[in-house]
Amino acid sequence: MQTSHRTIFLSTILAMFLASGVAAAQNSGVASGYPVPKDDLTPQQRTGDGLYKRYCIGCHGLKGDGNGENAPYIDPKPRDFTLAQFKCRSTPTGTLPLDSDIISSMERGLRGSNMPSWLPLSDNNRQDLLAYIKTFSPRWKTEKPGAPIAIPPEPEVTADHLRAGQALFQKLECWKCHGVEGRGDGPSAATLTDSKDRPIVPYDFTEGHKFKQIGLKPINPEAAPAAAPQQQQQPEQQQQQQPPPQHTR
Ligand code: HEC
Ligand code: HEC
Repeated sequence: MQTSHRTIFLSTILAMFLASGVAAAQNSGVASGYPVPKDDLTPQQRTGDGLYKRYCIGCHGLKGDGNGENAPYIDPKPRDFTLAQFKCRSTPTGTLPLDSDIISSMERGLRGSNMPSWLPLSDNNRQDLLAYIKTFSPRWKTEKPGAPIAIPPEPEVTADHLRAGQALFQKLECWKCHGVEGRGDGPSAATLTDSKDRPIVPYDFTEGHKFKQIGLKPINPEAAPAAAPQQQQQPEQQQQQQPPPQHTR
């Protein structure tokens, strides 16, 4: 497992290195030199096809089904675009995401997984990739994205809000998977599977830095300026803190 992880990590680095190194070349049309795409693609989808084959195919696979050659070594598995099911959505469960949701996942990358950030590509290139990803599922032709869920601004952290949150955590049974203390060890944790029946682990909330960061502020103490003065008053505690990991997983 050790070697495979290292291989994946290196190939991710390589992909990102390539992404930054040839960013200029993309705008002049990276599609040339790659397998001839299907005839029915729009010019934008065709450019996306070339980019996809260059940057995404190793994980998401030629058919977009998430079975790229790196997939066996990756956990969580690369997304299967033929299902058009996405995790990071602003839209309700069961509905298609907004374009901006998918674009934002490409920009950010998905923390805690092997999905890198594709910020080194241009905005146009990410739009081209989006257009191409949509060709993998007929749902994009027959369905519209769901109406986005309105998320109110994050409330202040007060004792009352914390108590109300704790009550919801209980009432909505978050603890069944995430555990009473949020350590990802609730009674259902061991039996969970994803939509493709593969085992999936609930988040351990005590490791706040691992969030995929969908509208969530990082709980990583180094990234939260408000926590800094308090830390300075407790030097021993600060020394015990682990530095945040430099890469995913
Ligand atoms: C090194 C492997 C790897 C490469 C290369 C890669 N991805 Fe991913 N991608 C993943 C993994 C793994 C996931 C699922 C992560 C998860 O479930 O937390 C994912 C998920 C996604 C998602 C789904 C986000 C969601 O909300 O469900 C999109 C969109 C995506 N990738 C686009 C791309 C595009 C576009 C490229 C090429 C520019 C690309 N990926 C290249 C590994 C990769
Ligand atoms: C049936 C099991 C289950 C229940 C119940 C559940 N979760 Fe989760 N939760 C998960 C799993 C599994 C993941 C990890 C998903 C992944 O890796 O993509 C997760 C991930 C999360 C994340 C991390 C999202 C991110 O940004 O990466 C948050 C936050 C979260 N859950 C909050 C909650 C809250 C709040 C509740 C109760 C309202 C809840 N969960 C109930 C299984 C559950």
